[in-house]
Amino acid sequence: MPSSTFLLIRELAELESAFRAEVASLATEQEIRAAQARYLGKKGRVSELMKQMGRLPAEERPQVGEVANRTKNGIEAETERRLCELRELARKQDLERQVDVTLPGRCEPVGHLHILTKVRREIVAIFAELGFEVAFGPQVETDFHNFEALGIPKDHPARDMQDTFYVADDVVLRTHTSPVQIRTMLSKAPPVKIVAPGAVYRKDDDPTHSPMFQQIEGLLVDEDVRMSDLKGVLLHFVRRFFGRDLGIRFRPSYFPFVEPGAEVDMQCTFCGGRGAGCRVCKGTGFLEIGGAGMVDPVVLKQVNYDAEKFNGFAFGMGIERMAMLRHGINDIKLFYEGNLRFLEQF
Ligand code: PHE
Repeated sequence: MPSSTFLLIRELAELESAFRAEVASLATEQEIRAAQARYLGKKGRVSELMKQMGRLPAEERPQVGEVANRTKNGIEAETERRLCELRELARKQDLERQVDVTLPGRCEPVGHLHILTKVRREIVAIFAELGFEVAFGPQVETDFHNFEALGIPKDHPARDMQDTFYVADDVVLRTHTSPVQIRTMLSKAPPVKIVAPGAVYRKDDDPTHSPMFQQIEGLLVDEDVRMSDLKGVLLHFVRRFFGRDLGIRFRPSYFPFVEPGAEVDMQCTFCGGRGAGCRVCKGTGFLEIGGAGMVDPVVLKQVNYDAEKFNGFAFGMGIERMAMLRHGINDIKLFYEGNLRFLEQF
């Protein structure tokens, strides 16, 4: 065998071990495929050697060709072996990774009802326990339901443009939930026993007043209703809602649709009624929570109820105010700003 043939065979054989050495240190499929191309590609090292075959005597070419084929096959096989090894390694690492399947999953944050919704529902539930039904009325209300039928005359200050949002001459954003009294009595015969929660609107704006807020109205009309019934219902409500033995008191007051009328105060949730030095009730021991009174017979006649036979009581309270007193919130605007750091606390 001439030495050039021998040399070529040796070089081919050496390529295979060179390739093995090279891929042993490569750790990605991409690098290994690149190395394979450097050896077996059109301009790869094997092809370069094969080109020299033309210079050999014809009878020796088959022998060299055979070695070349073995070299190619060897490189292919080594490529696959190495790739397979890498895949095995990756699988093993996957399996070895410590996964604690008992860990709780990551939760998506879940929303909850707004504090005012919760408070409103709670208030309604307390009255529902006492047998009050829930009634609703429109927020865009007629002058008749909001004022006239409730005995609020044309020259009453509550009707002033300063206090009320007018939609048209005789259409207003209701300034209280009392028009639901009228709508309920116009739609059914006595006895009546309802609460009416909902939004009301006034041109008011400071830390304890908002142009939109919510009230809950109460109305009970039956035979032989007493003011003590009214006081008992409100006292029960205060004790249930605040979960404490707080007292209430009536201060004589005027609302055109009740007679007698009263402002309702409850003992201060902060100082428990002691008063002295309390900044929440300003030392009085009491906090105002709403208006109330015995339904004026004029109102009953207005809705064609027999005012000789039936009488009743009514009350109205602010829902935001209840929530503020219960949770120690000092700015009504916090309810409407949608700040999660505030809302998430409830
Ligand atoms: N509607 C009155 C207000 O908003 C409250 C009230 C309701 C007073 C029922 C008496 C009876 O000021």
